[in-house]
Amino acid sequence: MVCIRQATIDDLLAMQACNLLCLPENYQMKYYFYHILSWPQLLYVAEDYGGRIVGYVLAKMEEETTECHGHITSLAVVRTHRKLGLATKLMTAAQNAMEHVFGAEYVSLHVRRSNRAAFNLYNETLGYKIHDIEAKYYADGEDAYDMRKQLRVKPPVHHHHHHHHGGGCCSGEAKGAEN
Ligand SMILES: CC(C)(COP(=O)(O)OP(=O)(O)OC[C@H]1O[C@@H](n2cnc3c(N)ncnc32)[C@H](O)[C@@H]1OP(=O)(O)O)[C@@H](O)C(=O)NCCC(=O)NCCS
Repeated sequence: MVCIRQATIDDLLAMQACNLLCLPENYQMKYYFYHILSWPQLLYVAEDYGGRIVGYVLAKMEEETTECHGHITSLAVVRTHRKLGLATKLMTAAQNAMEHVFGAEYVSLHVRRSNRAAFNLYNETLGYKIHDIEAKYYADGEDAYDMRKQLRVKPPVHHHHHHHHGGGCCSGEAKGAEN
């Protein structure tokens, strides 16, 4: 049995270890802290029955644009636990929180042109579309597909006040923490 749950501070080292095993794009520990302190609802882990972290998703809200949208920073599942639907569940958990906690209109991500497994996951299973191609996006010169998935349609503007509780990228409270 593998469970999907929100990550805690105590999971960050295991998430980093999983990332190092699975991907050439790696991050300093402070970047994991930046994510979990800013958007704790957007980090999930897959934990096996022995308590081992076998997959993770690291995601954030984008602050530099006027549109409110989520971004998948990193996703991986260890080789022994692939093709079990874990990445689909991790992605769905992050996307749901982007939409329902932060009010994201869409979610974006980058994927290597040659990464067929991830491309199929995003495109076929999760419904992401190619938005753009970024030439030589990766350090080794490979191109990235910039992919997007629409989460919700823009709500019509109502002229009465709503009180929003909880943080939102659009509220601006998470700004200014970029490392
Ligand atoms: C990409 C990755 C996260 C997928 O994880 P996973 O848990 O095996 O994915 P799922 O089981 O949820 O697969 C869902 C769908 O993805 C696609 N997919 C997954 N692995 C695939 C493969 N080896 N070849 C082709 N399609 C694949 C399929 O469409 C699959 O649906 P199906 O099972 O109905 O065929 C995993 O292979 C991985 O960690 N790879 C290395 C790191 C990486 O590339 N991360 C993404 C960087 S953008």
